[in-house]
Amino acid sequence: MMPPRIFVAIDRSRKEDAAAEIVGLGTEGFAVKLGLEFFVAQGPQGVVDVAGGRPLFLDLKLHDIPNTVAGGVRSASRCKPHFLTIHASGGAAMMHAAASAAKEAGETRPKLLGITVLTSLDESDLAAVGQRGPMSDQAERLAVLARESGLDGVVCSPHEIARLRKACGPDFKLVVPGIRPEWAEAGDQKRIMTPAEAVSLGADHLVIGRPITQAKTPKDALARILAEIAA
Ligand code: C5P
Repeated sequence: MMPPRIFVAIDRSRKEDAAAEIVGLGTEGFAVKLGLEFFVAQGPQGVVDVAGGRPLFLDLKLHDIPNTVAGGVRSASRCKPHFLTIHASGGAAMMHAAASAAKEAGETRPKLLGITVLTSLDESDLAAVGQRGPMSDQAERLAVLARESGLDGVVCSPHEIARLRKACGPDFKLVVPGIRPEWAEAGDQKRIMTPAEAVSLGADHLVIGRPITQAKTPKDALARILAEIAA
Protein backbone atom coordinates (compact mmCIF):
# COMPACT_ATOMS: atom_id res chain seq x y z
CA MET A 1 0.00 0.00 0.00
CA MET A 2 1.22 3.52 -0.81
CA PRO A 3 1.89 5.52 2.34
CA PRO A 4 0.72 9.14 2.53
CA ARG A 5 2.64 11.74 0.56
CA ILE A 6 3.90 13.58 3.65
CA PHE A 7 6.18 12.20 6.34
CA VAL A 8 6.22 14.57 9.30
CA ALA A 9 9.69 14.71 10.90
CA ILE A 10 9.22 14.15 14.62
CA ASP A 11 12.61 15.37 15.86
CA ARG A 12 12.17 14.62 19.57
CA SER A 13 13.93 12.38 22.05
CA ARG A 14 11.19 11.98 24.69
CA LYS A 15 8.37 9.56 24.05
CA GLU A 16 5.70 11.85 25.54
CA ASP A 17 6.81 14.80 23.38
CA ALA A 18 6.86 12.71 20.20
CA ALA A 19 3.47 11.16 20.98
CA ALA A 20 1.94 14.58 21.74
CA GLU A 21 3.30 15.99 18.48
CA ILE A 22 1.73 13.11 16.53
CA VAL A 23 -1.62 13.38 18.32
CA GLY A 24 -1.69 17.08 17.43
CA LEU A 25 -1.68 16.17 13.73
CA GLY A 26 -5.00 14.36 13.80
CA THR A 27 -5.60 10.91 12.39
CA GLU A 28 -4.92 10.98 8.66
CA GLY A 29 -3.06 12.47 5.74
CA PHE A 30 0.40 11.95 7.13
CA ALA A 31 3.04 9.38 8.07
CA VAL A 32 5.85 9.68 10.62
CA LYS A 33 9.61 10.05 10.34
CA LEU A 34 11.66 9.18 13.42
CA GLY A 35 15.43 9.51 13.39
CA LEU A 36 18.52 8.80 15.44
CA GLU A 37 17.62 11.26 18.19
CA PHE A 38 14.51 9.29 19.06
CA PHE A 39 15.83 5.80 18.26
CA VAL A 40 18.95 6.14 20.40
CA ALA A 41 16.91 7.49 23.31
CA GLN A 42 13.90 5.15 23.14
CA GLY A 43 14.96 2.05 21.19
CA PRO A 44 12.89 -0.08 18.82
CA GLN A 45 9.98 -0.55 21.21
CA GLY A 46 9.70 3.21 21.66
CA VAL A 47 9.61 3.58 17.88
CA VAL A 48 6.85 0.99 17.49
CA ASP A 49 4.81 2.51 20.35
CA VAL A 50 5.01 6.07 19.09
CA ALA A 51 4.43 5.21 15.41
CA GLY A 52 1.24 3.44 16.52
CA GLY A 53 0.86 1.46 13.30
CA ARG A 54 1.21 4.50 11.00
CA PRO A 55 3.55 4.15 8.02
CA LEU A 56 6.99 4.83 9.44
CA PHE A 57 10.18 6.28 7.97
CA LEU A 58 13.02 5.16 10.22
CA ASP A 59 15.90 7.50 9.43
CA LEU A 60 18.94 5.71 10.88
CA LYS A 61 21.41 6.46 8.05
CA LEU A 62 23.33 3.20 8.53
CA HIS A 63 26.95 3.10 7.32
CA ASP A 64 29.37 0.25 8.15
CA ILE A 65 30.83 -2.93 6.63
CA PRO A 66 28.28 -4.96 4.63
CA ASN A 67 27.80 -7.68 7.27
CA THR A 68 27.14 -5.15 10.03
CA VAL A 69 24.75 -3.04 7.97
CA ALA A 70 22.87 -6.20 6.92
CA GLY A 71 22.49 -7.05 10.62
CA GLY A 72 21.30 -3.51 11.34
CA VAL A 73 18.70 -3.78 8.56
CA ARG A 74 17.47 -7.12 9.95
CA SER A 75 17.11 -5.66 13.44
CA ALA A 76 15.46 -2.48 12.19
CA SER A 77 13.02 -4.54 10.07
CA ARG A 78 11.36 -5.70 13.29
CA CYS A 79 9.98 -2.16 13.71
CA LYS A 80 8.32 -2.69 10.29
CA PRO A 81 9.38 0.66 8.83
CA HIS A 82 8.09 1.54 5.38
CA PHE A 83 11.38 3.37 4.65
CA LEU A 84 14.83 2.86 6.19
CA THR A 85 17.91 4.92 5.25
CA ILE A 86 21.51 3.82 4.64
CA HIS A 87 24.47 5.84 3.33
CA ALA A 88 25.05 5.19 -0.38
CA SER A 89 28.70 6.17 0.13
CA GLY A 90 29.09 2.88 2.06
CA GLY A 91 29.48 1.32 -1.38
CA ALA A 92 27.84 -1.24 -3.67
CA ALA A 93 28.63 -4.33 -1.57
CA MET A 94 27.16 -2.70 1.54
CA MET A 95 23.98 -1.71 -0.31
CA HIS A 96 23.60 -5.19 -1.88
CA ALA A 97 23.96 -6.78 1.56
CA ALA A 98 21.39 -4.38 2.99
CA ALA A 99 18.95 -5.07 0.15
CA SER A 100 19.24 -8.86 0.66
CA ALA A 101 18.74 -8.48 4.39
CA ALA A 102 15.64 -6.34 3.82
CA LYS A 103 14.18 -8.99 1.48
CA GLU A 104 14.28 -11.55 4.31
CA ALA A 105 11.43 -9.60 5.94
CA GLY A 106 9.14 -10.66 3.05
CA GLU A 107 5.95 -8.76 2.22
CA THR A 108 6.49 -6.09 4.86
CA ARG A 109 10.16 -5.55 4.02
CA PRO A 110 11.43 -2.00 4.50
CA LYS A 111 12.09 -0.03 1.35
CA LEU A 112 15.71 1.11 1.49
CA LEU A 113 16.58 4.72 0.71
CA GLY A 114 20.14 5.82 0.04
CA ILE A 115 21.58 8.99 1.51
CA THR A 116 23.71 10.59 -1.21
CA VAL A 117 25.43 13.85 -0.22
CA LEU A 118 24.40 15.39 3.09
CA THR A 119 23.08 18.88 2.42
CA SER A 120 25.14 20.14 5.35
CA LEU A 121 28.28 19.64 3.22
CA ASP A 122 29.57 22.00 0.56
CA GLU A 123 32.05 21.36 -2.21
CA SER A 124 35.10 22.12 -0.07
CA ASP A 125 33.84 19.60 2.54
CA LEU A 126 33.51 16.98 -0.22
CA ALA A 127 37.05 17.67 -1.41
CA ALA A 128 38.35 17.44 2.17
CA VAL A 129 37.04 13.87 2.49
CA GLY A 130 38.33 12.98 -0.97
CA GLN A 131 35.00 12.98 -2.81
CA ARG A 132 34.72 14.43 -6.27
CA GLY A 133 32.26 17.32 -6.89
CA PRO A 134 30.36 19.16 -8.11
CA MET A 135 27.85 18.14 -5.45
CA SER A 136 25.00 17.40 -7.83
CA ASP A 137 27.30 15.13 -9.92
CA GLN A 138 28.30 13.25 -6.77
CA ALA A 139 24.63 12.97 -5.73
CA GLU A 140 23.71 11.52 -9.13
CA ARG A 141 26.68 9.13 -9.10
CA LEU A 142 25.61 7.79 -5.69
CA ALA A 143 21.91 7.64 -6.63
CA VAL A 144 22.66 5.59 -9.75
CA LEU A 145 24.93 3.30 -7.72
CA ALA A 146 22.15 2.93 -5.13
CA ARG A 147 19.66 1.89 -7.80
CA GLU A 148 22.13 -0.57 -9.37
CA SER A 149 22.81 -2.01 -5.89
CA GLY A 150 19.15 -2.86 -5.23
CA LEU A 151 17.98 0.14 -3.22
CA ASP A 152 14.44 1.42 -3.68
CA GLY A 153 15.20 5.12 -3.79
CA VAL A 154 17.15 8.01 -2.31
CA VAL A 155 16.64 11.03 -0.09
CA CYS A 156 17.36 14.12 -2.16
CA SER A 157 17.25 17.90 -2.14
CA PRO A 158 14.31 19.47 -4.00
CA HIS A 159 16.81 20.89 -6.49
CA GLU A 160 17.96 17.40 -7.49
CA ILE A 161 14.50 15.92 -8.18
CA ALA A 162 14.41 16.53 -11.92
CA ARG A 163 17.96 15.35 -12.52
CA LEU A 164 17.66 12.19 -10.40
CA ARG A 165 14.25 11.30 -11.85
CA LYS A 166 15.83 11.40 -15.30
CA ALA A 167 18.90 9.41 -14.21
CA CYS A 168 17.09 6.77 -12.12
CA GLY A 169 13.73 6.29 -13.85
CA PRO A 170 10.08 6.54 -12.85
CA ASP A 171 9.97 3.75 -10.24
CA PHE A 172 12.89 4.93 -8.10
CA LYS A 173 11.56 6.63 -4.96
CA LEU A 174 12.61 10.23 -4.42
CA VAL A 175 11.96 11.32 -0.84
CA VAL A 176 12.53 15.02 -0.34
CA PRO A 177 13.24 17.18 2.74
CA GLY A 178 14.11 20.91 2.63
CA ILE A 179 10.45 21.78 2.01
CA ARG A 180 8.98 25.13 3.02
CA PRO A 181 5.51 26.46 2.17
CA GLU A 182 5.60 30.14 1.22
CA TRP A 183 4.00 31.05 4.55
CA ALA A 184 6.58 29.22 6.72
CA GLU A 185 9.95 30.31 8.14
CA ALA A 186 12.98 28.88 6.33
CA GLY A 187 14.85 28.25 9.61
CA ASP A 188 18.25 26.64 8.96
CA GLN A 189 17.19 25.14 5.60
CA LYS A 190 18.84 26.94 2.71
CA ARG A 191 17.98 25.26 -0.58
CA ILE A 192 14.23 25.13 -0.08
CA MET A 193 11.18 24.63 -2.28
CA THR A 194 7.42 24.67 -1.70
CA PRO A 195 5.52 21.37 -1.32
CA ALA A 196 3.53 21.85 -4.54
CA GLU A 197 6.66 22.65 -6.59
CA ALA A 198 8.51 19.59 -5.27
CA VAL A 199 5.58 17.31 -6.08
CA SER A 200 5.15 18.77 -9.55
CA LEU A 201 8.84 18.10 -10.24
CA GLY A 202 8.33 14.42 -9.37
CA ALA A 203 8.94 13.95 -5.64
CA ASP A 204 7.23 10.77 -4.38
CA HIS A 205 7.21 11.81 -0.73
CA LEU A 206 8.03 14.96 1.21
CA VAL A 207 9.68 15.12 4.64
CA ILE A 208 8.40 18.16 6.51
CA GLY A 209 9.20 19.02 10.11
CA ARG A 210 9.04 22.49 11.63
CA PRO A 211 6.60 24.12 9.18
CA ILE A 212 4.06 21.65 10.59
CA THR A 213 5.27 20.79 14.10
CA GLN A 214 6.10 24.39 15.11
CA ALA A 215 2.96 25.90 13.56
CA LYS A 216 0.40 27.44 15.90
CA THR A 217 -2.04 24.68 14.88
CA PRO A 218 -0.05 21.79 13.35
CA LYS A 219 -3.17 20.03 12.09
CA ASP A 220 -4.20 23.15 10.11
CA ALA A 221 -0.69 23.59 8.71
CA LEU A 222 -0.76 19.97 7.47
CA ALA A 223 -4.22 20.47 5.94
CA ARG A 224 -3.08 23.67 4.23
CA ILE A 225 -0.05 21.90 2.71
CA LEU A 226 -2.20 19.01 1.49
CA ALA A 227 -4.63 21.48 -0.10
CA GLU A 228 -1.78 23.33 -1.82
CA ILE A 229 -0.46 20.06 -3.28
CA ALA A 230 -3.92 19.02 -4.47
CA ALA A 231 -4.64 22.41 -6.11
O1 C5P B 1 12.02 20.87 10.25
P1 C5P B 1 12.45 20.50 8.85
O2 C5P B 1 11.31 20.53 7.85
O3 C5P B 1 13.64 21.28 8.37
O4 C5P B 1 12.86 18.97 9.02
C1 C5P B 1 13.43 18.26 8.02
C2 C5P B 1 13.76 16.86 8.45
O5 C5P B 1 14.44 16.26 7.36
C3 C5P B 1 14.68 16.74 9.65
O6 C5P B 1 14.33 15.54 10.35
C4 C5P B 1 16.06 16.63 9.04
O7 C5P B 1 16.93 15.87 9.80
C5 C5P B 1 15.75 15.92 7.72
N1 C5P B 1 16.69 16.20 6.63
C6 C5P B 1 16.93 17.48 6.13
N2 C5P B 1 17.78 17.69 5.09
C7 C5P B 1 18.38 16.66 4.53
C8 C5P B 1 18.16 15.37 5.00
C9 C5P B 1 17.30 15.18 6.05
O8 C5P B 1 16.38 18.45 6.63
N3 C5P B 1 19.17 16.88 3.52
